[in-house]
Amino acid sequence: MEIVLSGIRPTGNLHLGNYFGAVKNFIKMQEENKCFFFIADYHSLTTHPTPADLHGNVKQVLVEYLATGLDPEKSTIYIQSDLPEIAELYLFLNMNAYMGELERVTTFKDKARKQPENINAGLLTYPSLMAADIIIHKANKVPVGKDQEQHLEMTRTFARRFNRMYKEDFFPIPTAYNFGEELVKVPGLDGTGKMGKSEGEGNAVFLADDPTTIRKKVMRALTDAGPTEPNQQKPDYIDNLFSLMKLVSTPDAVAFFDEQYNKCAIRYGDMKKQLAEDIIVFTEPVRQRIIELSGNPEYLSKVARMGAEKAHESARKTINEVREIIGFRAF
Ligand code: ADP
Ligand code: TRP
Repeated sequence: MEIVLSGIRPTGNLHLGNYFGAVKNFIKMQEENKCFFFIADYHSLTTHPTPADLHGNVKQVLVEYLATGLDPEKSTIYIQSDLPEIAELYLFLNMNAYMGELERVTTFKDKARKQPENINAGLLTYPSLMAADIIIHKANKVPVGKDQEQHLEMTRTFARRFNRMYKEDFFPIPTAYNFGEELVKVPGLDGTGKMGKSEGEGNAVFLADDPTTIRKKVMRALTDAGPTEPNQQKPDYIDNLFSLMKLVSTPDAVAFFDEQYNKCAIRYGDMKKQLAEDIIVFTEPVRQRIIELSGNPEYLSKVARMGAEKAHESARKTINEVREIIGFRAF
């Protein structure tokens, strides 16, 4: 059994892209592995949120991940800042992390460009904090998107460096978790590209959107006057609607509209109505759970406490060994 770990940035509500591109895989992953999922709130400080924003965002992601099916009984779900051991390991790793290698990291250079007034040491050392997150539980698999590959590579560098420095085969060298199938890319509703929270208004359907909002967003999706020749190639913005339909509708419904398209008889209004209703069938139970969980602070607190306890046990063990290896020993 693999030890799999994933960090979740507390930024904004989950949309269908996050769900089908990531969360759905997490739910499957937790059946077959020892999984750690944590909310990366220490990392959030690199952009200086207000205390209220920080707390609200952490609650929101906790609620939404639980609502989609992350199971606190099967996985260890915790909040990063509940584990001071991470901060301690981060300190140790920073002593062997070099300015030059940290400055070369793409995400650092991007952030430095985006927030030139706030290029703080936390931004520079983001990779060593992420490495601490991973190796504190001796995780060997990490599900990462393209943008995080370099961070995972840095984690390997830091883990190897520690092992070499202390001549111990202590930390496993983590690799990317392979989902085994092609990762889906969920298109957005504005016809331009992938669904994303920072794209234009109405591009993303959020799991917390109510049915009226979803109908409105879907009905506004870009279409045209329809094909003029049988079996014509679909323009991207039409293809996107079909891709969305494949995720939420029955194969019969997809086949029906595909056939209509190929016969030049498609009515996009009908197709969008169907798509909206099928999205709602999928999101509505999740939205109800989001509402329920948001109003149940006792349960959230129980989940966070239980997660912290389990995560602590594993982190404590590693940090005690690390202290011993480095030479912090009791008199
Ligand atoms: P956003 O693009 O809205 O900012 P994030 O970057 O926070 O979303 O993504 C969190 C996770 O969701 C990542 O693992 C990312 O790969 C996945 N994800 C986000 N948008 C999509 C999408 N449109 N299709 C597939 N996966 C996505
Ligand atoms: N950096 C990751 C992101 O931006 C979040 C993250 C923090 C993470 N620590 C992690 C992901 C450890 C995997 C493992 O999405």
